[in-house]
Amino acid sequence: MAKQSAVPFSALPERVRIVEVGPRDGLQNEARSVPADVKIEFINRLSKTGLEVVETTSFVSPRWIPQLADADEVFRGIDKADGVAYPVLVPNVAGMERALAAGAREVAVFTAASETFNRKNINASIAESIDRFEPVLEMAKANDVRVRAYISCVLGCPYEGDIKPEAVAPIAERLIAMGCYEISLGDTIGVGTPLAARRLVQVVQESVDISQLAVHFHDTRGQALANILACVEIGVAVVDASVTGLGGCPYANGAPGNVATEEVVYMLNGMGIETGVDLDTLVDAGLYISEALGRLPTSDLAKLQQDKPSPDVDTGFNKF
Ligand code: HMG
Ligand code: MG
Repeated sequence: MAKQSAVPFSALPERVRIVEVGPRDGLQNEARSVPADVKIEFINRLSKTGLEVVETTSFVSPRWIPQLADADEVFRGIDKADGVAYPVLVPNVAGMERALAAGAREVAVFTAASETFNRKNINASIAESIDRFEPVLEMAKANDVRVRAYISCVLGCPYEGDIKPEAVAPIAERLIAMGCYEISLGDTIGVGTPLAARRLVQVVQESVDISQLAVHFHDTRGQALANILACVEIGVAVVDASVTGLGGCPYANGAPGNVATEEVVYMLNGMGIETGVDLDTLVDAGLYISEALGRLPTSDLAKLQQDKPSPDVDTGFNKF
């Protein structure tokens, strides 16, 4: 008798929305900064790939994240394509004021499931950070701006070690109750493994509908794609990713950052799940920024495209 699958494949979504975070999460972690006009060109190229969401930059303190100090110039400079959302990160009212002045229509607030990480990242306890979001959400409502929320360290923290899903769920529930439309669950340091990732979603899902959950895996330990699969199989339909795996350790060329968008798209294509993203155009956009940064793409898919001989060069291989 055929063995029954333990996975409820009926839960597979027909379509997954990819949230491209390369221009923000990727570039904030790169050792080398690129000029605003290169970021603008990068984002404009991403806008032509079929992506529905391109997270553009952060309106945070330039002292904390100098790589994104040009947020105003970049946000104002990009072509806003129809059908593409350009969210920006804001940590507080000051950031929200800057984002609104620049014309942002969507923002993302961010907190963590670890007190120590949150203190080091935004100089606030978890409760203080959520208090700071209250006026941000009021401003958003008054200006008809959508708000997404991130929770970092959902599977582990560099300072506190393991984080239990039960610590994540109430934060997610609170952020949704405050008016955020989606929670992105961030495995900030890439410690998660597939069954832990799936269990996290299952626990949080008891408090927040799965349609309002996104997953955000850093690929530090090569687990991101497996984790995404484990979550998509139970119905997660929003995945954050960064083209060519931008955002590796600032001190190690080629070190993994966020999961590479092209790898996620390739996997979902193979599963018959639609993303609307054109793989070749996407990788070209990633190679453009990788070259500007002087970094190697982390994904094998991007390396394959990078190594492809140009069509007018006769290598002789086609003859065999
Ligand atoms: P603070 O030092 O406590 O803030 O930092 P403050 O309110 O005391 O202000 C200090 C100075 O910053 C003042 O300037 C403010 O005006 C200025 P000064 O008077 O000293 O010249 N300031 C600002 N300037 C511009 N924009 C602002 C802003 N706010 C204050 N919005 C603060 C608190 C939140 C500002 C700081 O900690 C900060 O900016 N942190 C950002 C950290 C960050 O961006 N981290 C990366 C994003 S999170 C992430 O990557 C995780 C994620 O990918 C998911 C995952 O992977 O898990 C999302
Ligand atoms: Mg991140």
